[in-house]
Amino acid sequence: MTDAIETVFETVATTAADVRGALAERRAYADAENPSGEQQLAADVYADELLEERLLALDGVGSYASEERDGVVEADDAGQYHVACDPLDGSSNLQSNNGMGTIVGVFDESLPAPGSALVASGFVLYGPITTMLVARGGTVTEYLLDGEERSVLTEDVAIPDDPVVYGFGGRIPDWTDQFRSYVDDIEADRLKLRYGGAMVADVNQVITYGGIFGYPMLEERPEGKLRLQFEGHPIAHVIETAGGASSNGTQSLLDCDPDGLHERTPVFVGSESLVDRLESALS
Ligand code: F6P
Repeated sequence: MTDAIETVFETVATTAADVRGALAERRAYADAENPSGEQQLAADVYADELLEERLLALDGVGSYASEERDGVVEADDAGQYHVACDPLDGSSNLQSNNGMGTIVGVFDESLPAPGSALVASGFVLYGPITTMLVARGGTVTEYLLDGEERSVLTEDVAIPDDPVVYGFGGRIPDWTDQFRSYVDDIEADRLKLRYGGAMVADVNQVITYGGIFGYPMLEERPEGKLRLQFEGHPIAHVIETAGGASSNGTQSLLDCDPDGLHERTPVFVGSESLVDRLESALS
């Protein structure tokens, strides 16, 4: 790792300990909405402010953007890397005490940036234990985060060949007919449904067991729900680096360029065979 990118993930790992420690007291709503019109929890705001302050203080970081704020925040000194974060992905799971995460994309172009400008990506999963996956240089490494300590759990993480799980967001009556028949088709392959309402937690099941996660285009909302820059790009980069595939329904998410920072997109990530079948079903 070059030092600058390593320090980004060191900072994310130590910040994760603070975020985790602060969750119990920050389950209430913060009387504010994020730029996508979703209500923010005190925990969303806290995680965003910590990440902004600490990442922008790093030498190599030139700017910070997140799902929780309108625009890009520039560092005082120009840095080579630009960091896009979803500070607390799936934070509505905090009410029910289920999994959540922090998603990070490191780009070498200013934001909004195309997927091709991603140089590293990763996510923290606040599950029964805290783990962090980092994709860079063609490999994915899984770490255990224990307080401020970080140790390697798995080198060269790879999605298993035989898919086992699937999970898709959105109300089934709102799915398109083509998508519904794709789901019927893969259910016939005896995959098991796993959907928990936090992308990071659901994606980590796909990486662990093989399968597919998606938040599709909906009849009244063809753009789906998830954000390309903050969720789609980094998660697609982790999955593709682990040997899987990603798609917006027609092409890899890493080939998609956002028109705006908060642009939404349908997202599908997982085992290559299932993503290929999805693209054929939707074409
Ligand atoms: O960021 C949005 C998010 O919380 C994702 O983590 C998750 O996959 C999705 O929304 C869940 O949406 P829904 O509540 O519609 O299932």
